[in-house]
Amino acid sequence: NTRTADPVSWPDLIAQQVNCDTASEAYRADPNGFTEPLRSRSGAVHRTPSGALVLLGHAECAEVLRDPRFGHGAATARDITAYGVPARSFLLTDPPDHDRQRGRVSGAFTARAGARLAPRIEQYVLDLVGKAWQRREVDVVADLARPLAASVLSDVLGLPPGYEHHFVEMAELLVRGMDPQQDTAPAARAAITRARTDFVRTFTQLLRRTPDGCGTSVIDQLARGIARKDDPVKLSEAVATCGQLIAAGYETTVGLIANGLHTLLTHPEESSVLDTTHADADAMATAVEELLRYEPPVHIAVRTALTDAQVGEVTVPRGTILTLMLNAANRDPLVYADPHRLDLRRGGRHLAFGLGPHFCLGAPLARMEAHLMLSALWSGRPELVEERVTYTFGFVARRVQRLRIRLTQRPK
Ligand code: HEM
Repeated sequence: NTRTADPVSWPDLIAQQVNCDTASEAYRADPNGFTEPLRSRSGAVHRTPSGALVLLGHAECAEVLRDPRFGHGAATARDITAYGVPARSFLLTDPPDHDRQRGRVSGAFTARAGARLAPRIEQYVLDLVGKAWQRREVDVVADLARPLAASVLSDVLGLPPGYEHHFVEMAELLVRGMDPQQDTAPAARAAITRARTDFVRTFTQLLRRTPDGCGTSVIDQLARGIARKDDPVKLSEAVATCGQLIAAGYETTVGLIANGLHTLLTHPEESSVLDTTHADADAMATAVEELLRYEPPVHIAVRTALTDAQVGEVTVPRGTILTLMLNAANRDPLVYADPHRLDLRRGGRHLAFGLGPHFCLGAPLARMEAHLMLSALWSGRPELVEERVTYTFGFVARRVQRLRIRLTQRPK
């Protein structure tokens, strides 16, 4: 969610590299329909005429994600977030500065913090699915996944009670505004601008308040850091961290739940394994991993070679831009037998949460939310109301725009 004064236009770059318009309906509906022909032509590493690399192999993507010779490059004084704050979020910062910034909020994502949140998440799911049962027909995106992700994110950030409704709207616009393929309609742009101003004003106020001595929320931790006498956290950096958590943790989780349920409903033969075993928590947990592999909500990561390097046998000169197609890595035939088949018992590794120093901080949270929501919904024997779905305009994140379902029995 950070741009520099001289941004690389990711969408244009990818469009040239995979030789297609990534904003097109066809690409959004089926990115693998573009990356698989590229893999057949070029193998795991595709070099474009401009010298940039597109990585399609699991091993190659994993290597780059882990190797410190690939990163985002030094921060500059000109770094500015999409919403105008002079900072660079840690998603786009290299170690060791990255580790320092990530460490400031990681306390909100520990196993203990997750265990504390679990009963609240269970309650949110129960309430939302209960309401869905009363209405029978709902949109999974708007009525279930978004309110769940927003409530959980509000808790993790430590927003004051009652703020949630406002937060949903602001977060959505904020995330939309961070996408390089954002809406260009004037009305949409104006709404995004208002949300950005609102976000910066609100979070600046929250972060400046007297810190709670022992609170574990993100805002508590950052507010303590700002108030510290020695080496205080910069306010701009703290706002950027909150912005990044919203950018990274909101639509992605919505995507996992909505894409996941859509995948289950459009693969009845495969998903029938959950009918007999849905009471078995492990079966759904394993299924969630396969859904992450099969339809990753984040399908692209980008790195730059910080020094001359290599990926496998391929020489990579310093400055080369590498686009990691996570969706393609997750379908690598060298790693997965029959990679285009959904196998909910497959389990195993995937790159949907990245790897290495930038491995998704919210992965346990996202897994928990998806597991609880999908289990509850599946027990209500959902059916698709609309067969055809369209996909969001997002460039890095990809999810079904809406997903209308009907619950046919009372969810457990
Ligand atoms: C990083 C995916 C949910 C917070 C990442 C990355 C991926 C990812 C692929 C690595 C990006 C890169 O290396 O360039 C996802 C998916 C999610 C999800 C698919 C949902 C299914 C969440 C949630 C949160 C979160 C719920 C927090 C509330 C973060 C943060 C980073 C990150 C802070 C940056 C970590 C760093 O740079 O050290 N996520 N994410 N994510 N994610 Fe997630």
